[in-house]
Amino acid sequence: MVSYKELGLVNTREMFAKAINGGYAIPAFNFNNMEQLQAIIKASAETKSPVILQVSKGARNYANQTLLRYMAQGAVEYAKELGWEHPQICLHLDHGDTFEVCKSCVDFGFSSVMIDGSSLPYEENIALTKKVVEYAHQYDVTVEAELGVLAGVEDDVQAEESHYTKPEEVIDFATRTGCDSLAISIGTSHGAYKFKPEQCTRDPQTGKLVPPPLAFDVLDAIMEKLPGFPIVLHGSSSVPQEYVDIINTHGGKMPDAVGIPEEQLRKAAKSAVCKINIDSDSRLAFTAAVRKVFVEKPGEFDPRKYCGPARDEMTKLYKHKIIEVLGSDGKAE
Ligand code: G3H
Ligand code: 13P
Ligand code: ZN
Repeated sequence: MVSYKELGLVNTREMFAKAINGGYAIPAFNFNNMEQLQAIIKASAETKSPVILQVSKGARNYANQTLLRYMAQGAVEYAKELGWEHPQICLHLDHGDTFEVCKSCVDFGFSSVMIDGSSLPYEENIALTKKVVEYAHQYDVTVEAELGVLAGVEDDVQAEESHYTKPEEVIDFATRTGCDSLAISIGTSHGAYKFKPEQCTRDPQTGKLVPPPLAFDVLDAIMEKLPGFPIVLHGSSSVPQEYVDIINTHGGKMPDAVGIPEEQLRKAAKSAVCKINIDSDSRLAFTAAVRKVFVEKPGEFDPRKYCGPARDEMTKLYKHKIIEVLGSDGKAE
């Protein structure tokens, strides 16, 4: 048993309370490799933003859970080396799907876990979430739950279309499970293709897709039922078109990739939405930078010469999200 407290990590409780009161959101960035982690920590340290490092099932399979945890531990020391005196870094399990995987993360030094029972029948979601909460809270590990189903792919969970969270269920769910935060479905979805072209309109000037707005009425109704309760938005990448364009003009093929417009995330960040999950945008930044080097310098074969620019581009992206979208800069001096 390793306590996250010994590793210099923090859980989400205080982060979220401050974010709700302050009208900003905490960035939750997924990481799978060293360059991504370096970029996240550099951006957070330079902006003094609290940050959540997320580890998905895919990341555990790709990079190994043990290695990722030690990397997060190293990240705390790296942050201090960068001059961030009191880093506020949370290590979070993203989309945990069983009690066992959540327990193994709690036992191994994670400071927060998500149990995603959103694909289960309501009562089963409650029972599983409650079991995880009861275990995690013994060690002061915070728990994120999910109610409502996002469109697209949620790790193994496939949903044909989005099923918005039902506001009339949230009080019962939060009370009976004891969860610390709730991921909701209001129209976001995972990946770089968040909406089908037929769900969007097209900008006549650029020909780019313009997505439909998020269901802020559903968010408002949830906040009315659970005043001050921490709400989480998954699937919140914006799919920056400049990256899509670089990818498409440098040998890639990502037609009609579309995300959530930043002004909608800005609006959400000012509400009880206090955690915003971003993964795909970092993948796009990385891929765009790598493709550019491959096309412009075809003789290059040192991975540092293309992973380095990719890391710089991700750092730029993370800082932009922190400062211009979530407003979490300067909140962890
Ligand atoms: O929730 C989805 C995240 O973007 C993680 O994706 O399972 O491919 O690592 P992944
Ligand atoms: P994106 O695919 O929009 O980046 O969402 C990531 C996410 O929700 C991770 O849990
Ligand atoms: Zn997610």
